[in-house]
Amino acid sequence: SAQLHSVAKSAGKLYFGTATDNPELTDTAYTAILHNASEFGQITAANSMKWDATEPSRGDFTFQNADVIAQLAKTDGQLLRGHNCVWHEQLPSWVSSGNFNAATLSSILTTHCSTLVGRYKGQTCVYSWDVVNEPFNDDGSFGTDVFLTTLNTSYIPTALNAASSADPNAKLYINDFNIESAGAKSTAMQTLIRSLKASKTPIHGVGLQFHMIVGEVPTQSVLIQNLQAFTALGIEVAITELDVRMTLPATSALLAQQQKDYTTIVGACAAVSGCVGITVWDFTDKFSWVPGAFAGQGEACPWDANLVKKPAYQGIIAGFKG
Ligand code: G3I
Repeated sequence: SAQLHSVAKSAGKLYFGTATDNPELTDTAYTAILHNASEFGQITAANSMKWDATEPSRGDFTFQNADVIAQLAKTDGQLLRGHNCVWHEQLPSWVSSGNFNAATLSSILTTHCSTLVGRYKGQTCVYSWDVVNEPFNDDGSFGTDVFLTTLNTSYIPTALNAASSADPNAKLYINDFNIESAGAKSTAMQTLIRSLKASKTPIHGVGLQFHMIVGEVPTQSVLIQNLQAFTALGIEVAITELDVRMTLPATSALLAQQQKDYTTIVGACAAVSGCVGITVWDFTDKFSWVPGAFAGQGEACPWDANLVKKPAYQGIIAGFKG
């Protein structure tokens, strides 16, 4: 029967993919599904390419876990979305401390981005990088992390230019959550993209994370309009971290609603030609980040904790088939 990446390709998309993480790779029942290139044509490292993992102290680059994920993509014939170059979370304290003046922090940022992106440059599996992750507050204002307080928004073109020089072939993205439908944060992202384009800064895509809640997904036409508002700016979009969580315990009604929610979201990407692909933020409830972050919530993924497909799986297929 049809599998996720195959169906995505038939719908004209580049990939259907999943996040994965190094500790999970010892689970052979899990990896048997992960390695199936008909299910997953793309992978993202959930943690191991982040700043704390790759430059834990200044100039000390450690790519051991990140290399394992990149090698997996290569071996399995999957695309890689690099995640991420600069983010205010999982940032080692030597960076977040605020100990550096603007010139020094800018140079630290450039070195980090170019070393990280350069590490995987030219590897055919590399499709894109989330160069900047989550720059906005939910009201559309910029955050107050060390980059914004020290460098203001100049850190964004600095990171994008460094990534572009390090790998001119990678698609460079800004990635965020709560920009899935029209509103202050989506508008702020569009304003940022316009200004980057106006200054000829390399920017190729916006990643919409899509961490959603069962029964609270906007209508498909609202999602499509919002995706098109981004593609109208001359960039591509991708759904980068899809999951649809529920308040536990799961019931058959909740699982059926979740199936519909997945269909709505996947169908929105399918309907927009500039939406290049969809990534789930891991495919199984066994390794989902949700229960650790939201007490009493979970079961957000298309496979359950026993690695059995849920109705959500068929919801994804239906979304691609339209
Ligand atoms: O590495 C330590 C380990 O040494 C320690 O023993 C253990 C005990 O808590 O924690 C481990 O670190 C955890 C890390 O994941 C690696 O497993 C952190 O506590 C945990 O907070 C961290 O969570 C990650 C989260 O980002 C951090 O904000 C999730 O796995 C990861 O899925 C999640 O991914 C983010 C995207 O990057 C950006 N968008 C939102 C998404 C969900 O939060």
